[in-house]
Amino acid sequence: PAPNSFSQRLISWQKQHGRHDLPWQQNPTAYRVWVSEIMLQQTQVTTVIPYFERFMASFDSISALAAAPLDQVLHHWTGLGYYARARNLHKAAQTMVADFGGEFPDNLDDAISLPGVGRSTASAILTFSKGAQLPILDGNVKRVLARHGAIEGWPGKTSVQKALWALSEELTPSDNAAVFNQGMMDLGSSICRRGQPLCSECPVAKDCKAQLSGRQREFPNSKPK
Ligand code: ADE
Repeated sequence: PAPNSFSQRLISWQKQHGRHDLPWQQNPTAYRVWVSEIMLQQTQVTTVIPYFERFMASFDSISALAAAPLDQVLHHWTGLGYYARARNLHKAAQTMVADFGGEFPDNLDDAISLPGVGRSTASAILTFSKGAQLPILDGNVKRVLARHGAIEGWPGKTSVQKALWALSEELTPSDNAAVFNQGMMDLGSSICRRGQPLCSECPVAKDCKAQLSGRQREFPNSKPK
């Protein structure tokens, strides 16, 4: 990509300002990244960290998780909420033991077949742990992209979802997707925030369609009544 492209600017920003010290970024095995991404689906990073550490101390591998009693897994979730996530983790670990040789699958379709793992979560796991080069579209990334492309419509709508995935595919580089994806997540949580976005500090503000028209606050559009 050109030195000044969206992906290059985002990657440089990530290297300077993004997060590099999260526990699952140290030794990013598919198992550790998978558990972290499931915990992060509905819970903030600072809350997740101690839960993640306790979970890893008790269940140190996919096979250990698969063999543990469900109530022990649920106990590790006490206080995190959305307990279906813990049930799905346990079930998915058993599927991996039964069908995938006890490993997290390394192709997107098999990863998505696991309970609790949608396309964006699967792609995040495969880019962060296995060097895959795949676009993601979680809540933070949706906001960045909806603003960047001034994509109209509520993201819960299929057509809007499609447009957001298309833009994510277009912007994600075929090299360095892990740094790029972490950068998109970190930009969305620290700069391209839901409330007051900090556009003066954004590395990709100059071609952001929402920013150029002063409409950052309108995107993503809310659900129509
Ligand atoms: N939210 C979901 N995945 C994340 C990650 N890897 N880093 C920070 N926030 C996240």
